[in-house]
Amino acid sequence: MDVEAGAIVNDLYRALASGYNPALRAFVLLSKAESRQGAAVLDHLISPNGSRLIDLVVEEYRAAEIREQSRDWLSVDLGPRQLCDLELLINGAYSPLDGYLGAADHQTVCSEMRLANGVFWPIPVVLNIPDELAENLAGGDSLALRDGEGVMIAAMSVDACYERDLDAEIEAIFGTADRSHAGVAQYLHRTRRWAAAGRVEALQLPVHHDYPEHRRTPAEIRELFSNLGWRQVLTFQTHRTIHRAQQAMMVEAARNAGANILIHPVVGLDQPGDADHYTRIRCYQAVLPEFPESMAHLNLLPLAMRGGGGREALLHAIVNKNYGATHLMVDFDGSGAVLDTIGEPAYQQEEAALIISEHSTDLGVEMVPTREMVYLEDRKQFVASTDVTPDSHVLRLSADEVRQRLDDGREIPSWYTFEAVARELEHRHPARSEHGFTVFLTGLSGSGKSTIANVLRVKLLEYGGRGVTLLDGDLVRANLSSELGFSKEHRDLNIRRIGFVASEITRAGGVAICAPIAPYDVVRREVREMVQPCGGFVLVHVATPLEICEARDRKGMYAKARAGIIKEFTGISDPYEVPEDANVVIDTSDLAPDAATREVLLYLARQGYIPAPDGD
Ligand code: PPS
Repeated sequence: MDVEAGAIVNDLYRALASGYNPALRAFVLLSKAESRQGAAVLDHLISPNGSRLIDLVVEEYRAAEIREQSRDWLSVDLGPRQLCDLELLINGAYSPLDGYLGAADHQTVCSEMRLANGVFWPIPVVLNIPDELAENLAGGDSLALRDGEGVMIAAMSVDACYERDLDAEIEAIFGTADRSHAGVAQYLHRTRRWAAAGRVEALQLPVHHDYPEHRRTPAEIRELFSNLGWRQVLTFQTHRTIHRAQQAMMVEAARNAGANILIHPVVGLDQPGDADHYTRIRCYQAVLPEFPESMAHLNLLPLAMRGGGGREALLHAIVNKNYGATHLMVDFDGSGAVLDTIGEPAYQQEEAALIISEHSTDLGVEMVPTREMVYLEDRKQFVASTDVTPDSHVLRLSADEVRQRLDDGREIPSWYTFEAVARELEHRHPARSEHGFTVFLTGLSGSGKSTIANVLRVKLLEYGGRGVTLLDGDLVRANLSSELGFSKEHRDLNIRRIGFVASEITRAGGVAICAPIAPYDVVRREVREMVQPCGGFVLVHVATPLEICEARDRKGMYAKARAGIIKEFTGISDPYEVPEDANVVIDTSDLAPDAATREVLLYLARQGYIPAPDGD
């Protein structure tokens, strides 16, 4: 359809929005279908999975209809991970899926990697819903799918709700149903039994205010490639920063394949250890001009890793194929794995290469292996480590060594990365002496936490340079958690609140000193995970034995607890789980407050957060 015809059709859409006319509507739908079909066959790019590129965003008149009708519908607020799936459904990256799988598809996908109609599909894409919603939702209903802020993104015509076979699903994704597998445990923690199946009509794509110029849909990317005359496309799927070695590897692989390059960073959910989202993307932008002219394009991939095995690699191949890829290169880390969102290996390079080649007839996408690249100083060039002779003088730096250099405030060498990337990373990772950090003291009532916390606060203020905030147990209970009691649930909530405040203080470059009892291990670890991406986290176990704490009984509480006047008292009638991940352990039985605090200061100095204390 040419531009003029397109304009006429758009006028007709607008006309339709203001009044219903079946003949006109039929004409418009036909014109739109032709236009879409035209887009699907307009080029010499690889055809999408299942031959049909899906676009679930409806026309304006239909969107208006849906908004009008949706007032009486049930709705579900999707979490960040679910929104990633929805976005990939809407924009066609999951073509040919046009909605969430039903029970029959779920079963055949798990057992045979095929939809019930025979189309190749490796992983169940399901909309899991809360039990209460499943009880009230039936086939024939419509369901509003909303983002975290309640904005309606799409409507689903519900075919059915079904209780899916979670064991089969987990076995399919992870290759094991072992509940102790970290990925399986996480998956079970975040999923629900009930699923709703049905076709999706989208009012819009999920909203992203960042980098709209790098968030093209598969159809837009294909149109761009087509206009540029690209045929063979090598996508480089990564969640890490790109340095000279990866750039050299990509260029070499693309030349060998006679392909152009789509740099495709995964930006659905951040992973532990990732540079933050904005830093990563600024780094990618900085690398682009380093490629030969017109060779590479950057696009953000709103995908959340499931943490599965080889089948996840197949899904990635399909998604990239739908964006026009003929060749897929995944950025595996030094151990040959790609990591999931909790930092566990999702799939290994060999496993992915094998399964993708086994399904080459269905996929048509070739997996290009990544190779370790080393720098040859005399030739000033990167080469694959397998191609160097034993007498060559090679330079290499692991990701851990780069992180260590950043922590120490040492330069990243120019042979390793590009000047602009080094500046971005240095800016994002100031030396530890400039980081914010949290000192989290845990221990029984009367163990000496508050005393150490107070001395530590004064000493850190003496050093200067950072603001210091004290989040003592009693202070927090009085101001932040005054409505809470001492049940496990309330204690966990109390500690989570402390963790949240501490993470914000740490992010802003300050010091948070926390001193609650925090008797439970899981929530202490949760706090570590919250704070660590924002700066330093030091867990101090004030391990003064119960007998000493009870003998001190400064507040007379142990006596009351023994008499049963105070219930659920930690150490007496409620447990204290001794931390196994403490960075510092202090028993204050025979230690004066200054000496006990010095233990913490010495640890902070060894980690590079503060200068060594006097006399050391
Ligand atoms: S928790 O478990 O981390 O939420 O506890 P926290 O916020 O640190 O509060 C502990 C202080 O509250 C007083 N208190 C109790 N502690 C333990 N168990 C029970 N049932 C209880 N009831 C009141 C106690 O004085 C603690 O103060 P510290 O300073 O630790 O002695």
